[in-house]
Amino acid sequence: MEKHFIYGMSVEGENFTDRTRETQRLKKDFEHGMNVILISPRRMGKTSLVKKVKAEISDPHIRIVMMDIYDCRSEYDFYNRFAASILKETSNKMEQTLENVKKFLVRLTPKISFSPEPLSEYSMSLGITPENYTPEEILNLPEVIAKEKGIHIVICIDEFQQIGEMPDSLSIQKRMRGVWQHQTHVSYCLYGSKKHLMTNLFQNKRMPFYQFGETNELSAISTQDWVPFIQSRFEKNSQFISADYASRICEYVGNHSSYVQQLAWNIMVETDKEVNEESFANGWKAMLAQCCSYFREQIRGLSSYQMNFIRLLCSGITSDFGSKAHQEMFPLGSKSNITRIKTSLIEREIVEQEADNSIHLINPVFQRWFTSEYL
Ligand SMILES: Nc1ncnc2c1ncn2[C@@H]1O[C@H](COP(=O)(O)OP(=O)(O)OP(=O)(O)O)[C@@H](O)[C@H]1O
Ligand SMILES: [Mg+2]
Repeated sequence: MEKHFIYGMSVEGENFTDRTRETQRLKKDFEHGMNVILISPRRMGKTSLVKKVKAEISDPHIRIVMMDIYDCRSEYDFYNRFAASILKETSNKMEQTLENVKKFLVRLTPKISFSPEPLSEYSMSLGITPENYTPEEILNLPEVIAKEKGIHIVICIDEFQQIGEMPDSLSIQKRMRGVWQHQTHVSYCLYGSKKHLMTNLFQNKRMPFYQFGETNELSAISTQDWVPFIQSRFEKNSQFISADYASRICEYVGNHSSYVQQLAWNIMVETDKEVNEESFANGWKAMLAQCCSYFREQIRGLSSYQMNFIRLLCSGITSDFGSKAHQEMFPLGSKSNITRIKTSLIEREIVEQEADNSIHLINPVFQRWFTSEYL
């Protein structure tokens, strides 16, 4: 079965559109051992981009190791994920992985488990604890392996902001940076979607990872690149969408990658032969219905001042919230209250603060939904 639009999981092959410039750039970074930090809002396409670059690198001397640490709660959770991913991805077969464990982590007896589906991956639990290995030994593992095998390893860590949430996080970060900065055969691509946490880890002078690598914000795919992609999908399904409607899809969702595909799919379902006002409106309605329970959850328990703050943002105000004119539109309370509102909405990942201190709603679809429900 062919899917015309994909959302909710990373995309590959012909489902990956554009990003030529970003792909080239990241590929060069990987090939030349540069450390990279990649930040973007949720579902913009980080994982897809890193996978794409991995697939494009054919040099056998470069190995790309990808891992996701969203569920690592402690330092040693992380070391177990870190070591297992490196050992797996630098070997071709399970037997070889086990040999590598014997060679590089002699004090361990790993457990292997297979999932019920045939051909699927095995998982390996190494059992690294403070009793058998120090953090430094594990953090230096990729360098030891890379030297021994005569390769360069690029380690890509997804949802890296999780490190900042661990108990005693600052010491962990110091240990990591302390070991990693001396490695010459390993480079890192650290990425994540919680912008305020990522920014704090990498752009705060007092933090260990300050200026660890080049920081890139992954921007949205342009309308110009989306339009032919959307049109070709409709064509494949023997339907027609004009460039105007395809652009409108992008505009409605602020070019947010996952939402572009979700809205396009909903409109496709509502369309017979050709997209028109009615099928567009129905598709949009269907998508909002899919999103609204999540949006309601996001605003659950917000105070009326916090709601007012979002109302101001939806009215196009991005700064100077305490001014008389704005307070008359939607009151927010005292100055210190405004600061508290900002902080709490940033923590809830509803808004983000730009370098110039202006505040914006993160999610363009949320913005439209909120406007229609509460303004
Ligand atoms: N290059 C692309 N071409 C087409 N669609 C894309 C592209 N990148 C992302 N998307 C769309 O965005 C969705 C999310 O992509 P992906 O999982 O790579 O994003 P992410 O930033 O890693 O998300 P998360 O924040 O959940 O980790 C995909 O399912 C797809 O609909
Ligand atoms: Mg991802």
